[in-house]
Amino acid sequence: MVHWSPFVMSFKKKYPWIQLAGHAGSFKAGANGRILKKHCECEQRCLSLLMRDVLRPYVPGYHGDVEKDGQKYNQMEDLLAEFDFPCVMDCKMGVRTYLEEELTKARKKPSPRPDMYQKMIEVDPNAPTHEENDQKAVTKPRYMQWRETISSTATLGFRIEGVKKEDGTVNRDFKKTKTREQVMVAFQDFVRGNKDVLRCYLTRLEEIRDTLEISPFFKTHEVIGSSLLFVHDSKGRAKVWMIDFGKTTPLPDGQELTHRASWVEGNREDGYLSGLDSLVDIISTMVNSET
Ligand SMILES: Nc1ncnc2c1ncn2[C@@H]1O[C@H](COP(=O)(O)OP(=O)(O)O)[C@@H](O)[C@H]1O
Ligand SMILES: [Mg+2]
Repeated sequence: MVHWSPFVMSFKKKYPWIQLAGHAGSFKAGANGRILKKHCECEQRCLSLLMRDVLRPYVPGYHGDVEKDGQKYNQMEDLLAEFDFPCVMDCKMGVRTYLEEELTKARKKPSPRPDMYQKMIEVDPNAPTHEENDQKAVTKPRYMQWRETISSTATLGFRIEGVKKEDGTVNRDFKKTKTREQVMVAFQDFVRGNKDVLRCYLTRLEEIRDTLEISPFFKTHEVIGSSLLFVHDSKGRAKVWMIDFGKTTPLPDGQELTHRASWVEGNREDGYLSGLDSLVDIISTMVNSET
């Protein structure tokens, strides 16, 4: 949670700023409708390129880096600023949420991890193999790959990370939200059954998809750990943006991704468009349903 100091909190602001997912303490309030996110070279590079890409309307405006209290930040547009008491959802895109490079690194020293074994059995006591049960430990690469299968990441190509509703309540308990039906229940609850809001979201997602399909930036980057941020309010405003490019990495010269082909280790496919296809499909079904 990010706390606004009274000095920066503008009287126009009708909401407390909310950070739904990600690393605690990495955001600060900025001046005039901007927020500051802890600096990351990789994200800065991506945001700068995105400001000159067709995707620009679908990412927060980037305003360069600034230093505050001895810490460097990337300065970007606060996407919540144009809403009254916004409802927010963060969906993390892709069929995996770690870089291939992270998997390779984890494999280099696959030391047994009792902590990861504990986390695993808390979610699913049947997940460990006999051998893992004997050792009461799992390796990190094993844990990383298992983790993607408990939510909808591996099967649908996205997962819900968190939701904030207009009453201010925040829910981050979507770790095991896995099936289409479970995702629909979460969306239905998020929009409180409002089909107009769902229709706005659907149109915007289709626009984003059309734009991704022609974006030079998107073709040439492995997009990992990036989210779609859904924001709506009671006035019926509803928009979606792409956020978080901290793990978005350029491919070697001449290489391109389809973002739809299955991931086979080494091909770097991220399944971003497969995930967006499933989101569009799920929301269309909801829009066209009788109830
Ligand atoms: N430009 C923005 N405007 C409004 N909210 C944002 C913006 N960027 C991030 N957030 C909020 O902060 C959360 C974490 O942001 P993210 O960039 O994913 O950080 P991390 O790299 O720590 O995962 C998001 O889920 C969202 O709630
Ligand atoms: Mg994030």
